[in-house]
Amino acid sequence: MSRYLALVPAAGSGSRFGAPSPKQYLQLNNRPLMWHTLQVLCQVEAISEVVVVISPCDEWFDDFDWDLPKLNVQRVGGASRAESVRNGLQAMAAAENDWVLVHDAARCCLSVAAVERLITSLAEDTVGGLLALPVPDTVKRADGDGRISATVPRQGLWLAQTPQMFRAGLLAQALASAGEIEMTDEASAIEQLGQKPRLVEGDAQNFKVTYPRDLALARAILAARKD
Ligand code: C5P
Repeated sequence: MSRYLALVPAAGSGSRFGAPSPKQYLQLNNRPLMWHTLQVLCQVEAISEVVVVISPCDEWFDDFDWDLPKLNVQRVGGASRAESVRNGLQAMAAAENDWVLVHDAARCCLSVAAVERLITSLAEDTVGGLLALPVPDTVKRADGDGRISATVPRQGLWLAQTPQMFRAGLLAQALASAGEIEMTDEASAIEQLGQKPRLVEGDAQNFKVTYPRDLALARAILAARKD
C-alpha cells in the first residue's frame, strides 16, 4: 500500500523578506511561522510522516519546541529549493510508489480541507498534481521600463501553489533529469518529462508569506481559525 509523506523544504534564507532570521522562524501567533504549516500537515490523517528539510547550518530550529509527533527533521538543505527537495527525497527513503506532498514552509495558512481535496482528487491519477488557483485578474506583461508591453489573456492561466503531490519514484526521476536547470516548483520538473500534472483548485488563503506586509494577513487568518 502506498504511503502519503509530506516533504517541506525550509532551507531558504528568506532574502526577499529581509528579516534577521529566515521567515519560517518568525513569530506568528506565539509560534514560529513554520509550526503552523507543519501542524496542518500533521493533522491530515492520511499523511504518515512530515519531513522538514532545513539547512545544515540552521541555527534556529533547535530553539523551539515543535511538539508534533509525525515530524522528522533532516538537515540536508541545498543551495536551491530544488536541491533541498532532491536531498530530502533521498533522506526520507520513500518507496517508488509512495506519494510525496511537497509543500513550502512559508505557506502557513494551508488548510486540512485543501490537502484532503488534493489527496482525494489524485488518488487514481497516474501523474499527480498540485493545488493551484485560476488567475482572477487581468494580466499585463511589463517592458523593462515599468510600462505595459502586452495584455496576456488570462483564460487557462493558473497560479501554482503547494502541496504538489507526485509518486516518489517519478519525482526523483524528474528532479534528476532537471539537473542544474533551476526549477521553482516540482510540477515544472515533471512537465519536462512530458507529463501533464493535474490542477486541483486550491484557495486564496494558501498564499506564500514572501514580504513583511504578508504577515498581518497570515496572522488574521490563523487567529480567525483559532476562534
Ligand atoms: O524562496 P521561496 O519562497 O520560493 O522558497 C520556497 C520554499 O523553498 C521555502 O519554504 C524555502 O524555505 C525553501 N527553500 C529551500 N532551500 C533553498 C531555498 C528555498 O528549502 N535553498
